[in-house]
Amino acid sequence: MADPRYVPAPEHGASAGVLAYLATTAAVLLLMMLFGLLMRAEQARFIALGAQGFYQLMTLHGAGMVGIAGIAGAAIMWHFLSRYVALSARILHANLALFVAGVAMILGAVLLGGFHGGWTFLHPLPSHSLGLWSDAAAAWFLGGMLVIGTGFLLLQLDVARALVAGYGGFARALGWPQLFGRDDGQAPPPTVVASAMVTVVNIVGLVVGAAILAMMLVNLYFPEFAIDPLLAKAMIYFFGHVFINATIYMAVIAVYEILPRYTRRPWKANRAFLASWNCSTLMVMFIFPHHLLMDFAFPTWMLVMGHIIGYLNTVPILVVTGYGALMIVYRSGIVWDTASRLLFLSMFGWAAGAMPAFIDGTIRVNYVMHNTLWVPGHFHTYLLLGMVAMAFGFMYYIAKPAAQARDGLVDRAAFWVYLAGALGFVLVFLYSGKQSVPRRYAEHLPEWLPYDRLGTFFAGLVVAASLVFAGRFLARLAHARGGQARATVPVGAAA
Ligand code: HEM
Repeated sequence: MADPRYVPAPEHGASAGVLAYLATTAAVLLLMMLFGLLMRAEQARFIALGAQGFYQLMTLHGAGMVGIAGIAGAAIMWHFLSRYVALSARILHANLALFVAGVAMILGAVLLGGFHGGWTFLHPLPSHSLGLWSDAAAAWFLGGMLVIGTGFLLLQLDVARALVAGYGGFARALGWPQLFGRDDGQAPPPTVVASAMVTVVNIVGLVVGAAILAMMLVNLYFPEFAIDPLLAKAMIYFFGHVFINATIYMAVIAVYEILPRYTRRPWKANRAFLASWNCSTLMVMFIFPHHLLMDFAFPTWMLVMGHIIGYLNTVPILVVTGYGALMIVYRSGIVWDTASRLLFLSMFGWAAGAMPAFIDGTIRVNYVMHNTLWVPGHFHTYLLLGMVAMAFGFMYYIAKPAAQARDGLVDRAAFWVYLAGALGFVLVFLYSGKQSVPRRYAEHLPEWLPYDRLGTFFAGLVVAASLVFAGRFLARLAHARGGQARATVPVGAAA
């Protein structure tokens, strides 16, 4: 049954800034998916790019996908958060401009300068190319990442300013009075809680990322400015892991805001919700050593911490959100269209994608599985079926011509093709991992080719369905313009 007190404003359309973010997302996502398809086709020996071509694509695909997931997540967060606090549209635009400039620098470094040291730019690889790329190419790549990171930092600082101005501080925005005191039913809405969490972790992550990028740039030209490689690795992984995690924590706001509009049931920030988001605020910052369990040089306490927190962090937000989504949809009479389908699918993708990570986070398993395709299997599950499904779901919702508009056969078919393609694609990665096929190998042994060929087929389905999703959004862009969201304060939320 719908909650009669909850009357959400039908809300389609977004500001020009948010639409520009989404149009950029559609274009970059498609290009990066195409690069992914080419990599898989190379491993399957359908094409012959050569090792250098493969690693150039891998570098662009990794950096581009992580960056564009950030742009999509930021668009969703900004769109909904701007209904509760006053955000700066100029900062929103500045971040996009810096993103485009950074992408151009990275494309130049890779396609013209031949840089192919991976999006993880592990020190000292960028400065030790054995003649495969120049210091200038490495500098353009590192500089491009720094420019992109600076844009996101500006955006997060603006969000921090607005949250402090609107809620009187982070403790209130994270719902501490309701969590630790008497629950007066005035907890901030889920969008505010999620944005506050993302802002805390992303600011720390981006500052650490900018620091190591700046240090590596100096080291490139003044090698006597030595950097401890272990410290560099920890800083890079901290930044990279926090940033990519934050993208899904931003994007899930679309689920919190849009599913209630379909079901006419509010999504309230109750104590369990607040506790889980607050716990994850801390845990997300300490979980990254679960990527380093094979690094004997790391202090044991860090690895133990990564193992334990890796287990713990899998549960809270995911369970609260997954359970919340099921409860909100159950017997609600929800009308299923492409937006609601994609958003609901994203809950499955996020939950399913966490499971292989949970398994890989176990030290004994990790020794065998971590450098195999099991790991791309894990993160492609939660990114393709979770994060990207949220982004496409948001695009469909925002660009819907009218609240009652129905999707056509092509959209419905595209949804099922996307689901089948993405599931097949990630299951092939996971199965290959189980068979010990290593990750990041340009060339595969003949025994692995059947998996690679099947994977390429499923990747083709994902690209085809994504073309429909992105094309539909871009075609409807003109309708989506200007319909600025009206504030709808969920029942029980602070105004
Ligand atoms: C059609 C969709 C996609 C295809 C075909 C694809 C394909 C691939 C392939 C073949 C690899 C290399 C695997 C290896 O051998 O280690 C890879 C790595 C990766 N992909 Fe994707 N991918 C897709 C979507 C995505 C999405 C949506 C994201 C993130 C939002 C993403 C992020 C990454 C990252 C971060 C890496 C790791 C790069 C590295 O190891 O440095 N991919 N992808």
